[in-house]
Amino acid sequence: MKQKIIVTGGCGYIGSHTVIELITHQFEVVILDDLSNSNIKTLDRIEKITGVRPIFEEIDLKDTEKTKAAFSKHADAVAVIHFAAYKAVAESVQNPVMYYKNNFFSLLNTLEAQLQEGIHNFIFSSSATVYGNPKTLPITEENEVQRPFSPYGNTKKIAEEILEDIVKANTGFSSISLRYFNPIGAHTSGDLGELPNGIPNNLMPYITQTAAGIRKELQVFGDDYDTKDGTAIRDYIHVVDLADAHVKAVKRLIHKEQEQALEIFNLGTGNGYTVLEVIQSFEKITEKPLNYRIVGRRAGDVPALYASTKMAKEKLGWETTLGIDDMISTSWKWEENLKNE
Ligand code: NAD
Ligand code: UD1
Repeated sequence: MKQKIIVTGGCGYIGSHTVIELITHQFEVVILDDLSNSNIKTLDRIEKITGVRPIFEEIDLKDTEKTKAAFSKHADAVAVIHFAAYKAVAESVQNPVMYYKNNFFSLLNTLEAQLQEGIHNFIFSSSATVYGNPKTLPITEENEVQRPFSPYGNTKKIAEEILEDIVKANTGFSSISLRYFNPIGAHTSGDLGELPNGIPNNLMPYITQTAAGIRKELQVFGDDYDTKDGTAIRDYIHVVDLADAHVKAVKRLIHKEQEQALEIFNLGTGNGYTVLEVIQSFEKITEKPLNYRIVGRRAGDVPALYASTKMAKEKLGWETTLGIDDMISTSWKWEENLKNE
C-alpha cells in the first residue's frame, strides 16, 4: 500500500515539482490548493510526466471547516508538506494584512486539522530570508535569525516559532522546516515550471521573459555591492533538487530518524553567483543577448547570501546534482514551451 502525503499548495511552482518526486518515489499524493496562484492545468502536466494524476481538492485553507473536512477525508495520510502561502515580497509590504491572514490562517488551520486527525509529520516551506543580512557566510542553520525586511519574510520567521511551540506541546508531533535559498529552473521535460502572475519580481523569470520579448529590459538592481563585480550574490538552486530534498525529509519523518522534534535545514547549493554571472551564463547557454541595464539597489536586498549545505548532506543525505547551467537551460526551455500554450 502506498503511503499518502498531503501537499498543500501542490499546484504551485515548488509544490508541483515535489508532487512529481513523491509520485516517482511511490507515494500517493493529495493536493490541497485554492489555485490562487496556480493553474488547474498543472494536474495534467503532472500526469503527463508521471503517468499518475494526483488526488486534488480545491480548497482555501483559510476556511477552517473545509480544511478540517479535507483532512478528515484523508486521515490516513502519514505526512503533510505545507507549501500554501502567498510569496510576493513587494505585495506583502503593500498589503501586510492579506499576507499575515493567508499565511497564518492556512498554516494554523492545516496544523489544527492534522493534529485532530493524528497526522504527526509536518514539513514547512521556510526561506533564507529569515537570516536577514547575515554577518557570516556561508550561512549555517546556527546563524542568527533576524526580523525579515518584509511581512512575507516575517510570516516565515513567526511560523518557525509557532512550530517550536507546537512540537513542544504535542508529544509525537514532528516537523522539519526547510529554508530555501533561491529556487529557479524547471522540470527537465520542459512540461512544468514557474508560472509567475503578472510582472515577475524574481530574477530568473524576469530574465527569460526579457529574452522572450515579453519584457523590454531587465533592470539589474545595484552594482555597488562589495562583491567581485558589484552585483548581489545569491545561492540559486534547481527546483528539482529542491523537490528531492522534500522526499528525503518526508522519509526522515516517517522513519522517525529526526534528532529533534523540530529540525531546520538550509536548502541551497553552497555556491553563490552574482546577478551579472547569471546573465552571462544565460547569454552563453541560450546564445541570446539579454537587454539589461544597471539601476539602483532594490530596497530590502542584501549583498550576499549562500548556504552551508553540510547539515542537509549529513542528516538528510541530500546533495544537489544540478548546476547553474541546468537551471538556466530548463528555465529557458520552459519559457519557450509556454509560447506554444
Ligand atoms: P506558488 O505561489 O507557486 O505556490 C503556492 C501555492 O499555494 C499556489 O498553488 C497557491 O494557489 C496555493 N495557495 C496559496 N494560498 C492558499 C490558500 N489559502 N489555500 C490553498 N492554497 C493556497 O509558490 P512557490 O514558489 O511554489 O512557493 C511554495 C512555498 O515555498 C511558499 O510557502 C513560499 O513562501 C515558499 N518559498 C518560496 C520561495 C521561492 O523562491 N519560490 C523561496 C522561499 C520559500
Ligand atoms: C526574493 C525575496 C525573498 C524570497 C525570494 C523567493 C526580496 C528582497 N527577497 O529573494 O524574501 O524568499 O525572493 O521568492 O524580494 N534582481 C535584479 N533584477 C530583477 C530581479 C532581481 O537585479 O529584476 C536581483 C536582486 O537584486 C537579487 C537577485 O537578482 O540580487 C535575486 O533576486 P530575486 O530573484 O528577487 O531573489 P531574492 O531577492 O534573493
